[in-house]
Amino acid sequence: MSECELVVRGGTVVTGVDSFRADIGISGGRIVALAERLQGVTMIEAGGLLVLPGGVDSHCHIEQLQDNGGADEETWESGSTSALAGGTTTAITFSTQFKGRPIRDSLAEYRGRAARAMIDYSFHQIITDPTDAVIRDEIPEIVASGVRSLKVFLTYDPLRLDDRQYLRVLAAARRTGALVTVHCENYDAIKWRTEALLAAGHTSPKYHPWSRPRIVEREATYRAVALAELVDQPIQVFHVSCPEAAEEIARARARGVKVWGETCPQYVVLGADDMDRPGFEGAKFMCSPSPRDAPTREALWAEIARGVLDVVSSDHSGWSFEGARGKRTNGAEATFRDIPNGVPGLAARLPILFSEGVGKGRITLNEFVRLTATNAAKLFGLYPRKGSIAIGADADLVLWDPTRQVTITQALMQHAIDYTPYEGMQVTGWPVSVLRRGEVVMRDGTIQAPPGSGQFLARAPYDMIRPTGRMPDGFDASAFLA
Ligand code: URP
Ligand code: ZN
Ligand code: ZN
Repeated sequence: MSECELVVRGGTVVTGVDSFRADIGISGGRIVALAERLQGVTMIEAGGLLVLPGGVDSHCHIEQLQDNGGADEETWESGSTSALAGGTTTAITFSTQFKGRPIRDSLAEYRGRAARAMIDYSFHQIITDPTDAVIRDEIPEIVASGVRSLKVFLTYDPLRLDDRQYLRVLAAARRTGALVTVHCENYDAIKWRTEALLAAGHTSPKYHPWSRPRIVEREATYRAVALAELVDQPIQVFHVSCPEAAEEIARARARGVKVWGETCPQYVVLGADDMDRPGFEGAKFMCSPSPRDAPTREALWAEIARGVLDVVSSDHSGWSFEGARGKRTNGAEATFRDIPNGVPGLAARLPILFSEGVGKGRITLNEFVRLTATNAAKLFGLYPRKGSIAIGADADLVLWDPTRQVTITQALMQHAIDYTPYEGMQVTGWPVSVLRRGEVVMRDGTIQAPPGSGQFLARAPYDMIRPTGRMPDGFDASAFLA
């Protein structure tokens, strides 16, 4: 065959199903050959290293627009830098609907900001106000533009939808061929417990998990899945924190419902006890659902290993610890109810999952690739372009040293947030360099991609999220209510 523009030579190629020694030939930004002894104009040595598909982070918040006209502190430049530092080359982030404003306007503004990305990207559209016009006109329009997934919240003011609103979004997604992703916690139960905790004087970050015990997540997961079953609309349950929620997903799957589960590094390595650190320190670990206890973390690993939770994303969220814009935005004495939720984790995602998962024998190397890249690419319609190492795929590659021992520090994360909840954590396994569409964009932690070199990934219809055709009484209510 003709000489490739670039060859990655001598590494162990790891996909979601195989591991094998091969050179990777790249031309025009794509993989064109997998063979022995390839020749390229440029050669990159990967001897002793694993060569993984670039990470696909299908749930992270980058420069997300806020209703006050501002945006998250994590910009597309800093977020891309952090992603590349940790081996992630593709991200799906969030465009928000603001009540009373056309979705297309905020989506256009968001796309404008994302034009400075250095990673490839797509969006989930958050639906907060499913008016008739949104259901009838706006959702079809944005899905047709390639934003083929919607996000809904069953809790959080002012984002949350009630059950009827959620049903209407499910039906709109079914009609237009989009996946619905769901934040599953019971709004009223959390509110009720929060009021009681505050009345009892339990205001510190430690009480955040008390306000949302696991049953609150199980109930909302069951309801989200049951209503999706009613409509026959596929969903993904975001950030599962406990085996009770995973159990609801597994039970639904067993009866043929198309539902997938995601978890995040914070739920397998952080704990509720982290929120009990002195002073305000616990706020650094506060996200929703809450990190739980050690037995719950082990149970989640088991759900990962048995495939119920088949995507591990970061849910990277842009709140600093110091300064007025972040965790202290409502003051240094804010109660747990008024502290912004979310933790940063774009760069830490792969190293933590590799070290704690593969390194400790909880998952295999191929499972690691599926969890961090392949499954998300498939579920969100990016596969086979993203998420694998195969002929024709984008040459998004991570050269990974499985033996390198690293202590995670804030400096290594390269994000705009001023802390990492994983500070001081020892990991084994680290990305040495990253290629994005055949270009070296990270080498030894130095980012070499110019702002604006990332590409928007418009997502076309795909089979994986096709409805099953099974509905109660065979009656498709979504076809009659737009
Ligand atoms: O606490 C979290 N997870 N914050 C980010 C927003 C969300 O709920 O995904
Ligand atoms: Zn959420
Ligand atoms: Zn999130």
